[in-house]
Amino acid sequence: MPNRIVIHADWTLGTINKNIYGHFAEHLGRCIYEGLWVGEDSSVPNTQGIRNDVLAALKKLNIPVLRWPGGCFADEYHWKDGIGPRQNRKRMINTHWGGVVENNHFGTHEFFQLCELLGSEPYICGNVGSGSVQEMSEWVEYMTFDGESPMANLRQENGREKPWKLKYFGVGNENWGCGGSMTAEYYADQYRRYQTYARNYGDNKLYKIAGGANSDDYHWTDVLMKQAHSMMDGLSLHYYTVPGTWANKGSATDFDKREWFATMRKANHMDELLTRHGTVMDRYDPKKRVGIIVDEWGTWYDVEPGTNPGFLYQQNTMRDAIVAAHHLHIFQKHCDRVQMANLAQMVNVLQAVVLTEGEKMLLTPTYHVLEMFKVHQDAEALAFHGTFGEYSLGGEETLPQVSVSASKKDGKVHVSLCNLSPDDSAELELELRGAEEAHTCTGVILANDAINAHNTFEQPNLVAPAAFEGARMTGNKLKISLPPASVVMLTLEP
Ligand code: AHR
Repeated sequence: MPNRIVIHADWTLGTINKNIYGHFAEHLGRCIYEGLWVGEDSSVPNTQGIRNDVLAALKKLNIPVLRWPGGCFADEYHWKDGIGPRQNRKRMINTHWGGVVENNHFGTHEFFQLCELLGSEPYICGNVGSGSVQEMSEWVEYMTFDGESPMANLRQENGREKPWKLKYFGVGNENWGCGGSMTAEYYADQYRRYQTYARNYGDNKLYKIAGGANSDDYHWTDVLMKQAHSMMDGLSLHYYTVPGTWANKGSATDFDKREWFATMRKANHMDELLTRHGTVMDRYDPKKRVGIIVDEWGTWYDVEPGTNPGFLYQQNTMRDAIVAAHHLHIFQKHCDRVQMANLAQMVNVLQAVVLTEGEKMLLTPTYHVLEMFKVHQDAEALAFHGTFGEYSLGGEETLPQVSVSASKKDGKVHVSLCNLSPDDSAELELELRGAEEAHTCTGVILANDAINAHNTFEQPNLVAPAAFEGARMTGNKLKISLPPASVVMLTLEP
């Protein structure tokens, strides 16, 4: 079936919060250490300990917000271990991730430094599971209080005179699991208590994010909203795309068309999750003041053979590129409620945008999607309607073959498309209504003949964007041919 899409340039669904292009960096495996932080004395070229190659690559993504220090690590992290002279910092075990030594060389000051270098807003996740109310309260004071106080004085002794600006603050992580194994009812009370002492100092106003549900736990969302919606600005949601089961997730690079389909089906589930969690939230917050913060999303496979199972290191193929594009389309569709999303994780862990090996670095297919899509950040999401062909394995279950999103900013319309089918190209007729005649259409494509194509340290540019020649424009109508398993970004300019 041909895909027919009408995009309404004069009908906006709302602003696409740029924060849905956020990232997440946890003290896990080689994300922080090696991936981002090498230390000032490293032979890897660095800026105040942060490696230059990775920094330069990440800057090109215009990363709006970065979540840290976890993840599960957050509810075992005691921030005072990560301040002061580095040689005096406590060496501890990262019990959750690989049982390795955590030397605390990357702490609060280093994180803010990283955010400054990236031009990203910091998003800090506090410790509810194993930390006290006092500890969390003092961390906020340390970071944001401008004046005479024990924590502000301590910060100054550690070399930072002025407080930092901190907006996004999470009160615990996965408190139904690694963050304390709590019930929704118990956590809701704890949330109310902990957030009370996370103060707004001076003009620093925290955007407080409550720990949210695991995937389709709608009861969790209901309880949190019922008991605490007036005390939160955002409620998180975690959902990972796992092609198989948690015990046998599947390989990142060695998969068949059945696993490809399963991956797309699981990725597509994000749409249902946002619809249903949003519906629950609407009962208590019909004006949609409280944002859904999808602060962990992405693919999760079996680790690369021979690597530490606790490090969650996986390769990244064209399949991941499609998953990323489809997720971003879903977030943009729900832009009335989704205020932030953080891809898990930034470097060397899960669906990373950058992989490193010693001094070497490569950009993954997922990186290229985020680079192509950054034009959507803070743009107006455009309404569209149409008929879409189906993608199936021949059984009853079907998915739309093409996933699409459109936005408008600075007089330009951007249309992103991805073809979920690894077998068939998709023919599209696209009409832009409600706009002056579009005169030019340029495009960029990410595609490869092999569905498991990926970049390696030997061949770092095997999967890379190229100019897209598959669109023909007549007036405001376009005929497009999308190759199988491809991602395209079109720019339409009058
Ligand atoms: O991103 C890896 C882990 O997944 C996080 O630490 C945790 O929050 C989630 O279960």
